[in-house]
Amino acid sequence: MKKIIITGAAGFIGFHTTKLYLEKGYFVLGIDNLNDSYDTEIKKFRIKELKNFESFTFKKLDISNKDKLDKEFAAFSKNSKPEAIINLAARTGVRKSTENPTVYYMTNVIGALNIAELAVRYKIKSLIHASTSSVYGDSKARKFSLDAETSMPISNYAASKKSSEVLLYAFSKLSNINVTVLRFFTVYGPLGRPDMSPFIFIESNIRRKRISLFGNGLQKRDFTYVDDIVSGIFKSTKLKGFNILNLGNNNPVSIKYLLSLVEKITKTKNIIKELPPLPEDVFYTSADISKTKKLLNWVPTTNISEGIKKTYNWHIENIKWIKNIKI
Ligand SMILES: NC(=O)c1ccc[n+]([C@@H]2O[C@H](COP(=O)([O-])OP(=O)(O)OC[C@H]3O[C@@H](n4cnc5c(N)ncnc54)[C@H](O)[C@@H]3O)[C@@H](O)[C@H]2O)c1
Repeated sequence: MKKIIITGAAGFIGFHTTKLYLEKGYFVLGIDNLNDSYDTEIKKFRIKELKNFESFTFKKLDISNKDKLDKEFAAFSKNSKPEAIINLAARTGVRKSTENPTVYYMTNVIGALNIAELAVRYKIKSLIHASTSSVYGDSKARKFSLDAETSMPISNYAASKKSSEVLLYAFSKLSNINVTVLRFFTVYGPLGRPDMSPFIFIESNIRRKRISLFGNGLQKRDFTYVDDIVSGIFKSTKLKGFNILNLGNNNPVSIKYLLSLVEKITKTKNIIKELPPLPEDVFYTSADISKTKKLLNWVPTTNISEGIKKTYNWHIENIKWIKNIKI
């Protein structure tokens, strides 16, 4: 019996990752505290979809609560060990981390510490941990390479993620667990996050709502389609030792370009409100994926126009309920 533990299963990437493992015949223990960082209806919808698989077990649980987490790990590992734990639970969003840093550190650092301790206790051989391109700070490099400076984050979110990377490195050196830290670059796709630009732009265009554009729109992001991220996660459970890898599309585009793609697909003009830039926002992100290609034999396969089209189609197919999701 193949088993895996996935935290943040009600989240955007957690949902898609859990679904892939369930489709591959795994028994999955999904953990999430279903917090209200964005409209919880979309998190509940994701869990409802996953519950269509009998091999899915869901526990509503906070990863900063080690005792409760321990009980669930013990129960799930009783007759056979899970192959890996994939930690996708996190307080996400750069801007909100300025308002409430404590919750970010409790989940992203203490939560990661709890997971690492339990991975060692239950002899789970692989731990995959989600990190972010935000650790590169406001880098001026054309490509963000793994040997770049990452000790100068410009948000609490980035600082919490960098802290988790460092603590996991120590854990991997002091134990037998294999740890892979994956730095994701702006992920988008169906059933996405209502607090992120692709979701907001598409829904605002459909609902004829005003879009707040922070800065001049020339900021570039290495938007990465969720299926590419999930295939990278899946491949990384085979790695040995400690590894950090970038998972990004390797082709950044500007926010203005994203807005123009949405207009092209919907054949309807966006309604824009221009606002000053935000201090936590970096100007540019771009993944150097050479090591990922080499170690995982991974390349992104969905370009931005294809990906946004697929995402838009999903929004149209789900228009009846998605139109009530708060953006
Ligand atoms: N989406 C992106 O563009 C992106 C980019 C870089 C990194 N990441 C990272 O990828 C991971 C997944 O991100 P996502 O986009 O799916 O975000 P998400 O917010 O949709 O998912 C995170 C999930 O974790 C859950 N969670 C938060 N705190 C928790 C806690 N204390 N205990 C249990 N569950 C908790 C939330 O309820 C949510 O369902 C995160 O670690 C995030 O930092 C995402």
